[in-house]
Amino acid sequence: MGARGRVVGVDRVALDPPLENANTVSFVGDMEDAKVHEKILQHLDGACDVLLSDAAPKLTGVREVDRAAEERLLEAVERLLPLLLKKEGDLLVKLLECPEAQNFQRRMRGLFASAKTVQAEGTRKGSSERYLLAKGYRPAALGD
Ligand SMILES: C[S@@+](CC[C@H](N)C(=O)[O-])C[C@H]1O[C@@H](n2cnc3c(N)ncnc32)[C@H](O)[C@@H]1O
Repeated sequence: MGARGRVVGVDRVALDPPLENANTVSFVGDMEDAKVHEKILQHLDGACDVLLSDAAPKLTGVREVDRAAEERLLEAVERLLPLLLKKEGDLLVKLLECPEAQNFQRRMRGLFASAKTVQAEGTRKGSSERYLLAKGYRPAALGD
């Protein structure tokens, strides 16, 4: 982020220990809440270069419930894009393995110059944890 960059983070749970960095702001909130979207925007100095979501629902083990929760999270990310992300900006989002996440990936492919699924280096072997890495946001493609 360099000396002048800024990071704004939100989670339902407070960071422990809290971050102590002048360029970083974090607060407790629900990213599905439109008021939280506005609050993120207020903390940013205009639109941002990267939107990163490591959010994941608390799994219940009931497949329909977990899929619906994942879908709500991904839809929240989708609503955040036109509000927060600069043209040509990049997106990194954690995905669960489910049809809702596949549909989300398909929609993102239409909004970014490139999009691929990646696994983080730190992900333990055998884990199904994946991220969508989408680069080059093209908001003009909205509605295409
Ligand atoms: C896999 S953890 C990652 C946490 C953090 N990024 C880290 O690396 O420690 C998933 C996080 O998503 C958060 N989360 C889930 N649903 C959320 C929501 N609707 N709004 C904000 N945070 C949410 C949870 O509270 C949890 O901390």
